[in-house]
Amino acid sequence: MKIRKIGNLEVSPIGMGCMAFSHGYGAAPAEDYSIDAIRVAHDFGCTFYDTAEIYGTEQFYPGHNEQVTGKAIKPFRKDVVLATKLFLAPEEFGDNGVDIYGAIKKHVEKSLVNLQTDFIDLYYLHRIHRQIPVEEVASAMGKLIDEGIIRGWGLSQVGGDTLRRAHEVTLVTAVQNLNNMMERDCEEDIFPYALANNIGVVPFSPIASGYLSGKITADLKYEKVDDVRRWVPQTQKENIIANMPILDVLAEFSTRKNATNAQIALAWMLHKYPNCVPIPGSKNRERILENLAAWDVELTDEEFDALEVALASVPLHGHRGHVEFVG
Ligand SMILES: NC(=O)c1ccc[n+]([C@@H]2O[C@H](COP(=O)([O-])OP(=O)(O)OC[C@H]3O[C@@H](n4cnc5c(N)ncnc54)[C@H](OP(=O)(O)O)[C@@H]3O)[C@@H](O)[C@H]2O)c1
Repeated sequence: MKIRKIGNLEVSPIGMGCMAFSHGYGAAPAEDYSIDAIRVAHDFGCTFYDTAEIYGTEQFYPGHNEQVTGKAIKPFRKDVVLATKLFLAPEEFGDNGVDIYGAIKKHVEKSLVNLQTDFIDLYYLHRIHRQIPVEEVASAMGKLIDEGIIRGWGLSQVGGDTLRRAHEVTLVTAVQNLNNMMERDCEEDIFPYALANNIGVVPFSPIASGYLSGKITADLKYEKVDDVRRWVPQTQKENIIANMPILDVLAEFSTRKNATNAQIALAWMLHKYPNCVPIPGSKNRERILENLAAWDVELTDEEFDALEVALASVPLHGHRGHVEFVG
């Protein structure tokens, strides 16, 4: 079985983003379907699952996605790496001074209940807030590690400077940022430091919210409620059309490798960075397995170099980047 290391955690080379079972890509599937899909992924070899406390807020309630994920993985909880994320707001801190540790502890305790577990393998701060010093979050995460409540911690949508400041206080296990063939800010800002410091990089939206699969067409109708494709730059009508050349590049390589476009998009990042473990998301069982199977699509160095050259020749339209700060 293939494994990768992110920090001190061993995981399958591709993980599973569970978000869409509660949020982000329109109506969530029935719970039974979602649970079955997560278990089928595990049978296939997936040992890394990603959720967050806020997934589900729009369609259900906060914690919904953690509950579905926790229920699904319960039979094999100890065999997998479970990641979740917390959102912190300054209003949560008491008037008698800032108690970041106390605030984080309340979040983690709720997540443990939702996830039906007594520890979390990887606990991320979902967004950075200007008024919440990342050093204090890092220190609180260090305490949670010492207490055995979490095994490692991470940051999401973070810039290089903030990552450095945090890592100096408590070793960061992983960064979860937007990263794919069309969103490459991390290549300059995050990967070099992460590689040098044993930090894993967990790209979210590795298929550019579906665009790189080639299955999104300009006439596709998104759902009215809770569908991020209504605002993601790569899934806007004008960019769907303008970015077709990148799909031609992918089609050429997928034909050559007898793979799908989505698999090439994933195989490319696996080849590029040894500390990279993407977490594609899908509500569709067959596509979940298709995406996981990309760990068997191996590009030779020559193929990878040719792909990089081809990608560099394609102009890109639409850029989301990472907006580091909320508030
Ligand atoms: N930290 C953060 O701020 C943050 C933000 C966003 C997401 N995330 C995490 O990252 C995970 C992945 O993000 P994402 O869902 O945006 O990633 P993504 O896989 O790039 O995009 C998901 C979209 O692509 C489609 N898709 C996936 N695989 C496909 C395939 N093989 N062929 C055709 N279409 C395919 C899905 O459609 P179908 O469902 O119809 O297959 C869905 O519409 C999430 O589940 C979540 O855990 C984190």
